[in-house]
Amino acid sequence: MWPYPRILAHRGGGTLAPENTFAGLRRGMDFGFRAVEFDVMLARDGVPVVMHDPYLGRTVSGAGHVFDYDGLELARMDAGSWFGADYRAEVVPLFVEFAQFCKANGIWMNIEIKPARGFDVETGETVARIARAMFADELASGQLASLPLLSSFSFAALEAARRVAPDLPRACLMSELPPGWEPLARSVEASAIHANHRHLTPALARAVLDAGFGLFCYTVNEPARAAELLGWGVEAFCTDRIDLIGPDFGRTAV
Ligand code: G3P
Ligand code: MG
Repeated sequence: MWPYPRILAHRGGGTLAPENTFAGLRRGMDFGFRAVEFDVMLARDGVPVVMHDPYLGRTVSGAGHVFDYDGLELARMDAGSWFGADYRAEVVPLFVEFAQFCKANGIWMNIEIKPARGFDVETGETVARIARAMFADELASGQLASLPLLSSFSFAALEAARRVAPDLPRACLMSELPPGWEPLARSVEASAIHANHRHLTPALARAVLDAGFGLFCYTVNEPARAAELLGWGVEAFCTDRIDLIGPDFGRTAV
């Protein structure tokens, strides 16, 4: 059962804006999106930042690893020029500010915990602790569908998140579902499986749903493929092509 929005903008605004930036969130909002996936990792001082790669160079001007810099240093770095000169004012967002913007604008969050190698536990704990504090009122009043969903490829990060925030929902990211995926997912008390759609089959989709997990796919950029996946019972997915696949996709198409 998937109580959340069904179509999410991947990394903020998909490929229509620099990934994991405020510009991406605004671009998504322009297209009607109020649901987003983004990636979070820790800076040197333990401050979580919104960033996909563990190193600078692709989306952020500069060199070295994310953990070579403090959060406030990263928060001054150019995260937009690689995409286009119009975006040179975009910086690496601090997770707290990014999540507060989402919450204030009614944007539902799938927060991907993206630890740099060796920082799984710290990253899982930090993200979960902050998210839990931010949603204390919603937890207390039982507004469960508004809670952020914490996902990760790292079981250590998910286990750490479970320890500090057992009441926040978790999802296992699995590129290919490995043998024994179900006990693995149960071991971190995940409520959903986030699968790479390229490796999913109708039978695997059915198995996930029959086992009682929510089923989400990443990253679906072709409308025909999106319709096919929804036909298999996939409940939600994220997309880079927010211009081709809108937030209401599938309500009439399948
Ligand atoms: O959370 C789904 C998707 O974002 C996982 O892959 O590499 O785009 O973070 P990646
Ligand atoms: Mg991601």
